[in-house]
Amino acid sequence: MLRDSPHTVEVLKKVDLFSGLNQQQLDDVANHVEEMRVQAGEVLVSQGEYGHECAVLIEGTVRVERDGTVLAHLGPGDFFGEMSLLDGKPRSASIIAETPSALLVIHGRDFRYLLDTVPGLARMMLIEVVDRLRALEEHFIS
Ligand code: CMP
Repeated sequence: MLRDSPHTVEVLKKVDLFSGLNQQQLDDVANHVEEMRVQAGEVLVSQGEYGHECAVLIEGTVRVERDGTVLAHLGPGDFFGEMSLLDGKPRSASIIAETPSALLVIHGRDFRYLLDTVPGLARMMLIEVVDRLRALEEHFIS
């Protein structure tokens, strides 16, 4: 799978998740992601559907909505769609673009490959997921 790697590598360098990677690792990641632009209002993920990809937001903002309630707003450097890829269950929420946005889309098989090969990626994602859990706990239990 060959993509526009030089441009994607420049994009990856600005994403915290991939900071600290050397050129060879960045080239490898670039070959496993796909750049995509979306318009404001586009539904990127639909609650209840089965998911086959996740994404890292590069530009713009999206909102996370579950049963009509807004759970969070995500911005550049944030990722979404990882839950269904990890547990194979339906999407827990919908993701809607609030502004024109740019994404790095990662298909399921590439996601599993990157989790296994990119140093620190699984740990950084886990920290972010724990952060989201804490935010929900604080919201509902305090
Ligand atoms: P997934 O369930 O695959 O699809 C919906 C996505 O919304 C989910 O993965 C997470 O990436 C994201 N998401 C779900 N709940 C939250 C939350 N409370 N805060 C931020 N993002 C969330």
